[in-house]
Amino acid sequence: MRKILLLLLVLALALPAGAALADGHGGFDCGTDEEVTIKFFGDPVGSHPVGEDNIINAFKEVCPNITVERNEGAANVTDLIAFYLTAFEAESSDLDVIRVDVIWPGQLAEHLIDLNGIAPQSHIDAQLPALIENDTVDGRLVALPMRIGFGMLYYRTDLLEKYGYDAPPATWDELETMAAAIQEGERADGNDEFWGYVWQGNAYEGLTCDALEWHVSATGENFLQPDGTISALNDAAVSIYEQAAGWVGTISPPGVVGYQEEDSRAVWHAGNAAFMRNWPYAYVLSGQSEDIPGFDVAPLPAGDSGHGASTLGGWHIGVSKYSENPEAAAAFAIFFTSVESQKSYALDTTSPPAALELYADPDVQAAMPFASPNLVEITSARPSTFSKDRYNAVSTLYFNAVHSILTGEEDAEVALELLELDLADLLGE
Ligand code: GLC
Repeated sequence: MRKILLLLLVLALALPAGAALADGHGGFDCGTDEEVTIKFFGDPVGSHPVGEDNIINAFKEVCPNITVERNEGAANVTDLIAFYLTAFEAESSDLDVIRVDVIWPGQLAEHLIDLNGIAPQSHIDAQLPALIENDTVDGRLVALPMRIGFGMLYYRTDLLEKYGYDAPPATWDELETMAAAIQEGERADGNDEFWGYVWQGNAYEGLTCDALEWHVSATGENFLQPDGTISALNDAAVSIYEQAAGWVGTISPPGVVGYQEEDSRAVWHAGNAAFMRNWPYAYVLSGQSEDIPGFDVAPLPAGDSGHGASTLGGWHIGVSKYSENPEAAAAFAIFFTSVESQKSYALDTTSPPAALELYADPDVQAAMPFASPNLVEITSARPSTFSKDRYNAVSTLYFNAVHSILTGEEDAEVALELLELDLADLLGE
């Protein structure tokens, strides 16, 4: 008996990583029996070293006739949308399956197939309804939800303790004070490279996310409200953007106005920052740093509205209308966003899943204690549902305006006034 148990144990350990994942997919419909190769445009490998490969390997076991070629999509999502739009406008068949940012269903709808009637209803029903709504454009389901992103504050528990703080900052003012004190102390202790706070200040979509958090925390509203009302310029907004501009070169490196997620994470990962604003993916990676003795995450600080705000991010999976193998591509998209795949991906990347039932899963709960099924409701959405295919233009106006304030090129009041005029022009008011 013992020998048999031992044998079973050895067999279990010898199973390839994807096998357990593949096992959950009995009777899966691969869409085609033909030998085909499909091209998938997925995560950048630097920020997401594992996650997708495990799902692709499991898919190969379930649908051996379909080979998935994984291509790295640009890390800068402003570049990524430009790449997609160029390819789609040329009706290129080079892209079969793509990852779709939560803000893009309206922007990309005309180029993506309708997955209603292709994805099993039980598959659709397993996802958080708000995400399915997000992905439904004029009745067409143009993407399947995979994961949720939201802005959070990473902080060094060891340094808070060292400097006598018993909790992370509740307001931006507190963050400023704590970041300055810790930075001063760490530099005095000999670390010249130490900074108080790192975030995303480059002129790209990531700045739209950070800036929206400042805006909502200060004013209680979005700069472009769900009904199309523009409210970029007001006193509370002017003051928070001025405050953020004041961080550049004081508690944040001067280069922060060129930082994307991975640039801030590099400083943080090297143990050279007290606080960082980032998405959930950085959680698992922070745990792997030998230069971070202790860290935790907290909600982003509150501004004048009395509340903090966190931008809703996340990624979904869509199938190109110009694919030469739409059945195989759709099968992969469905497999990729199944509950089993989402769980494996969530554990690998600490990204909260889109499937509701996984929030009750003990493994998921243990891997990411910060995740809750209410994330979509408690975060601030960028104005993509209202702006549809003009979202990219809206966001570009916004991040360029904010960037000009951060670099000191433009006065906050002037920049926000111009932004209001440009938004009104674009949206045809
Ligand atoms: C993250 C978010 C995505 C956002 C991007 C900005 O990938 O999930 O929604 O647009 O960051 O850089």
